[in-house]
Amino acid sequence: MRVAIVGAGRMGSAAARRLAKLGFDLVIWNRTRERAESLAREIGVRDAGSLIEALSHSQIALAMLADDEALLSVVSSMRRMDGLILVNGSTVTPKASIAASKHLEGLGIGYVEAPIVGGPGALERGEAIILVSGRRADVAAAGEVLDALGEVFVVGWKYGLAPALKLAFNNLLLASIAGLSESLLILDAYGLDKRLFRDLLGRTVFASFSEKYLERAVEGRKPTFTSRLAGKDARYAAEALADRGYPRIVSSRVADIYDLISSLGGGEDDYVGIYNTLKRLSERVRG
Ligand SMILES: NC(=O)c1ccc[n+]([C@@H]2O[C@H](COP(=O)([O-])OP(=O)(O)OC[C@H]3O[C@@H](n4cnc5c(N)ncnc54)[C@H](OP(=O)(O)O)[C@@H]3O)[C@@H](O)[C@H]2O)c1
Repeated sequence: MRVAIVGAGRMGSAAARRLAKLGFDLVIWNRTRERAESLAREIGVRDAGSLIEALSHSQIALAMLADDEALLSVVSSMRRMDGLILVNGSTVTPKASIAASKHLEGLGIGYVEAPIVGGPGALERGEAIILVSGRRADVAAAGEVLDALGEVFVVGWKYGLAPALKLAFNNLLLASIAGLSESLLILDAYGLDKRLFRDLLGRTVFASFSEKYLERAVEGRKPTFTSRLAGKDARYAAEALADRGYPRIVSSRVADIYDLISSLGGGEDDYVGIYNTLKRLSERVRG
């Protein structure tokens, strides 16, 4: 099956590595060409100089783009291509995704919403969860690619559902990371040992959360997901609520926290490591 990878960032690269290993016929397109060239060279596939060139040889296009703006800009530069299916793995708002589906329908292009739970490592190993919604026929036609990417979790047969579920998941995850970071500040403020906290969490419902994120929050790691994109997801969760007239109490505060991190220069850092930036800020505030 011929697949165009649209966006060669962290997630697009991970998907490309996985699909290439499984024998899919790939072509890579990225807005910044050098990134596509270097990924294509690494995995031994072709890169395309233009989006249209990449799509015209493909049955499926797999988009792994930063945000709503990137998705809508890519979709609006597509031309009529009957039978092509765009699988969107990016985290976007339900509103932008529905707008993309309508535009693509007018071009004869099928559309599958497929936001991903799991980072680039999990995606490359085939261990990510792919949340899927859209028209049944398009989902069936993209089945081979979706199955190859990870565990397919069908959300429903209407546009907007999988993006909403993904934002619900990320809202919980990011609020938990923000809460963990501030809890670490409480330990600092009262001279409590972090090992004590880990021991306590290990005895509670937070055991696996602490196992996965506590050390990473304190040490800081090479980012697999940046604070900038985490802030985008929190803002999108708030927008998704506001769009349906619901209050956005937690998501908007989490978005503010990540915006603060970005304004302090930590936008490209690991989204779990915000404790260290908050710690520096609190030291500055306390003089
Ligand atoms: N990383 C994770 O752990 C993770 C997990 C689940 C979901 N996601 C979601 O997956 C998506 C990709 O994340 P990522 O971590 O791969 O991000 P990334 O490494 O920052 O890559 C972003 C990609 O989007 C492209 N892009 C940005 N603005 C664009 C525009 N206006 N037009 C065309 N292309 C544009 C970038 O192209 P350039 O190279 O030209 O900038 C790059 O290919 C995001 O929606 C993210 O929320 C990420």
